[in-house]
Amino acid sequence: MLEVNNIEVVYNDVILVLKGISLTVPRGGVVALLGANGAGKTTTLRAIAQILDSQNGDLESGSVVFEGRPIHNLDADAIVRLGISLVPEGRRILDELTVLENLEIGAFTRQDRENIKKDLELVLNYFPVLRQRLHQRSIFLSGGEQQMLAVARSLMSRPKLMMLDEPSLGLAPLLVRSIFEILARINREQGTAILLVEQNARLALRFAKYGYIMENGKIVLDGPCKELMENPDVKEFYLGVTEESAVKSYADVKHYKRRKRWLS
Ligand SMILES: Nc1ncnc2c1ncn2[C@@H]1O[C@H](COP(=O)(O)OP(=O)(O)O)[C@@H](O)[C@H]1O
Ligand SMILES: [Mg+2]
Repeated sequence: MLEVNNIEVVYNDVILVLKGISLTVPRGGVVALLGANGAGKTTTLRAIAQILDSQNGDLESGSVVFEGRPIHNLDADAIVRLGISLVPEGRRILDELTVLENLEIGAFTRQDRENIKKDLELVLNYFPVLRQRLHQRSIFLSGGEQQMLAVARSLMSRPKLMMLDEPSLGLAPLLVRSIFEILARINREQGTAILLVEQNARLALRFAKYGYIMENGKIVLDGPCKELMENPDVKEFYLGVTEESAVKSYADVKHYKRRKRWLS
């Protein structure tokens, strides 16, 4: 459904940040894009969503094709209309507006009032906590609720492909789990494809079917998540200590520190 072919992105006319990224998301698929801070994950999503302009970024070469159609020359609104929606890093909720107003903004590209109403119902069924707070200003939501609102707002555009930029960041494990359970349901029930960017490799590899690992603007490894989880380098650098090692030996701690260094 989505094909990113060998794209190169430059910021401020000089810094080459993506050095030929290629990736594919199949219809209804769940794909993870992993990598340390600064690898270029957010830039990849911005290049697909056509929001590089606002960042002084430029797609220098390569192509982005969605459902057989090149989309790298379209504007950001057209991308949303085609069915690609980005849940940005840091949520970007309009916190002076109410929950309902934020959700309505998610449907800004649509005219079909009746269906928008139906989708609002659908979205509130996925996120019942938002229904209770529909008329409250979003600033009063917790971090987890804001992340739910960001996902819910994205759903209001009826995406065929939802791109999520580090949805787990800063959230307690229990909340992360419930958000990912809802994402899995959305994927299953609505057929929405998901392109997930995460620093939490363990979480992402469990959630997705196929994964890409980025370093320094390049894809260094890709494959089915089951295989990536067994890959020695992935284990060492991205998954770190094994879950069995509840009792930490000195070696484990050293290992852990090394992993922390990689991820920071
Ligand atoms: N708006 C920008 N202007 C200039 N450089 C940027 C901009 N955004 C990101 N970068 C740089 O591009 C590289 C990749 O960043 P990013 O795509 O945010 O990586 P990631 O999401 O994997 O952490 C980093 O070196 C970062 O400093
Ligand atoms: Mg990022």
